Amino acid sequence: MLPGTGYTPAMSTPVSRRGFLKAAAVGAAATSCSHVSPKLRPRAPVAISSRNGIHAVEIAVRKMNEGLPPVDAAVIGIEGVENDPNDTSVGYGGLPNEDGVVELDSCTMDGPSGLAGAVASLRNIKNPSQVALKVMRRTDHVLLVGEGALRFARAHGFAEENLLTERARRRWLRWKEGLSDQDDWIDLSENGSHGKEYVDGHVERPTGTIHVGCVNDKGDIGGCTSTSGLAFKIPGRVGDSPLIGCGNYVDNDYGVAGSTGRGEAVILSNGAARIVRYMAEGRSPTDACLDALRDIARMTKVPRLLDAQGRPNFQVNFYAINKAGQLGAAAMRPSQHSRMTENGPEVMDSAALFGG
Ligand code: GLY
Repeated sequence: MLPGTGYTPAMSTPVSRRGFLKAAAVGAAATSCSHVSPKLRPRAPVAISSRNGIHAVEIAVRKMNEGLPPVDAAVIGIEGVENDPNDTSVGYGGLPNEDGVVELDSCTMDGPSGLAGAVASLRNIKNPSQVALKVMRRTDHVLLVGEGALRFARAHGFAEENLLTERARRRWLRWKEGLSDQDDWIDLSENGSHGKEYVDGHVERPTGTIHVGCVNDKGDIGGCTSTSGLAFKIPGRVGDSPLIGCGNYVDNDYGVAGSTGRGEAVILSNGAARIVRYMAEGRSPTDACLDALRDIARMTKVPRLLDAQGRPNFQVNFYAINKAGQLGAAAMRPSQHSRMTENGPEVMDSAALFGG
C-alpha cells in the first residue's frame, strides 16, 4: 500500500494477463469506495505509456528526476519515438494519408498551469509534440491545425523535412494498389511478376500512437500523445490524439489519462477526460480505464463496428495514473503497456475488457 494512500500499489513485476486481472480485481475491491485526496503524491516519479514507449517512460522519469516538469518529461520521452523511422505510427516514418502525405497530430497538457497545446494535420515537422508544447507555452490558444500549425512551427524554427520513409511509401502504395480492380493502379502480381517488396497480401491500417503520462514526486502531473493517425486516412482526418479530453487529459488534483487505438471511439466518448473523472470519484486507474471501455462498448451501436457477439470489433487502449502515483491500463482486447516506477522499466499486460 502506498504510504497513507489506502491504495494497493501498482503491479511491481511482470505477470501474466490472468494474474494481472486477478490482482487488479483485488485492488479494485480494496479501493472502490475511496476518494483520491489531492494531497497524495508518489514516493518517486512514475510514468506510463503505450507498449511502444518502453524507452520513453525511462527517459521521462529520468527527466523528472532532473527536475523537468512532467509535461516536458513526457514530450522528451516521446521525441525518441517520433524520430524512430521503424515506428510507423508516430512522427518520422509514420504511415501517410490516402494521398501518401504524412500528417501528424499531438497534444500536451500540464497539470500545474492547467494549460494545454495541440497541433493536428501537421505536415513536414517530425516532432509535433514539441510544436504542441510551444502552442501551450507561447500562445493563448490550445489547438492549431494544418497550414496554420506549420507556419507556427516554422516561426519557432522547426526544420521541415520529408517524413515519408521508403518503407512507409511502399506500404501506402501496396494499400493503394489493392483498393480496387476497377482503377489503373495494379500491383506487380497482377502483371505476372512478384516483387520482393510485396510479401504481405493484406495491408493493415493501424491506429498506433504513443501516449506518455507522468506524475512527479510532488504530485504534479503532465501528459502527451503523438501520432501519425489512422494509416491512409482521408486527408485532414483528425483522431483523438490532439484533442484534449480525448487522447490525453490531465487534472493536477486527480491524475492523467491517455489513449491509443481507434480514435473515433475515443472522441465520441471523451475517453481521457472520462477516465480522470472516474479517478476523481475514487476509482482505481485500472477500474477507471475499464469503465471507460465499457462505456465505449455500450455506446457503439452500428453493426459495421460490432463483431458476431455484439462487441466492438476495434481496439482501444487506455492508460492512467492517479495523483498518488498508482498506475493502470486497460484495453478492449488483450494488449500491453510500458511503465517506469521504482521497479524500473517494465512491459506489462493491460487489463482486457474482452478476450482476444
Ligand atoms: N488514436 C490515434 C488515432 O486514431 O488517430
